Parts: sequence; structure tokens; C-alpha cells
Amino acid sequence: MNTMLGVLLALAIFVTLCDAQCTFYPLEIIDGYQARGCRDSKGVMHDFSTQWESDCIHCSCEENIGLVCCTMVMRPTIYDQNECMEIFQKESCIYIAVNKTNPSTLCEVSQYTG
Ligand SMILES: *[C@@H]1O[C@H](CO)[C@@H](O)[C@H](O)[C@H]1NC(C)=O
Repeated sequence: MNTMLGVLLALAIFVTLCDAQCTFYPLEIIDGYQARGCRDSKGVMHDFSTQWESDCIHCSCEENIGLVCCTMVMRPTIYDQNECMEIFQKESCIYIAVNKTNPSTLCEVSQYTG
């Protein structure tokens, strides 16, 4: 019984991990023609078939599709919210849950969302 529950839990975490949030931006039309690349949120043009990452967002520019950006930030969803708080780790793009009264101790997190 416990093994079954463990398997289900592992499966649930796996599914959630892969469920990144993506945003789609169609190609710009300039003077009636499709742009020869994708303009990112900072106004920088990127060639087709290129990918880049900044601020924990992964983007790719695809010809005929446009710009697709997915956030790579992971947040804990199931943890003790009364005793713990979230702290953002910029390097790894993940929020960790730490004890409010004792921030050097990690809290147990049973589920993350992407
Ligand atoms: C947080 O720390 C306090 C004091 O050290 C402790 O009593 C409490 O059980 C801790 N809570 C969690 C969720 O770890």
C-alpha cells in the first residue's frame, strides 16, 4: 500500500516538473512581410533556430512559429506555509522553503510546480 502511494507521489511530482509555463509570441509583420527573426522582450532580435536563456526564462525562436518562452522557475506548492517561507535562488531558478524562525533550516517540500 505504501509503495503504491510512493509511486503515485513520484509520478505526480514528475508530471508537475515537466509542466513548464510557456508563452507564445507570433512573428512580427513588418511592411507586410514576416520579420526575419524574433524580437525578445528587451527589443533584441534573434535569428531563427536559436535558443537563449535569461532571468530564468528559456526562449527559442522558430521560423514559421515565432518566439516561445518558458519560465524555468520552480516553486514549492506543498509545504508548511505557517512555519516556512519561500526564498528565491537566482542561480538555480528555484524557490526553496526555509523555516521562518530559523531560515538556515530547509523545510520539507512534497511538491514543486514549474
Ligand atoms: C522551525 O523552527 C522552529 C524553531 O527552531 C521549530 O520549533 C519548528 O518545528 C520548525 N518548523 C519546521 C516546519 O521545521
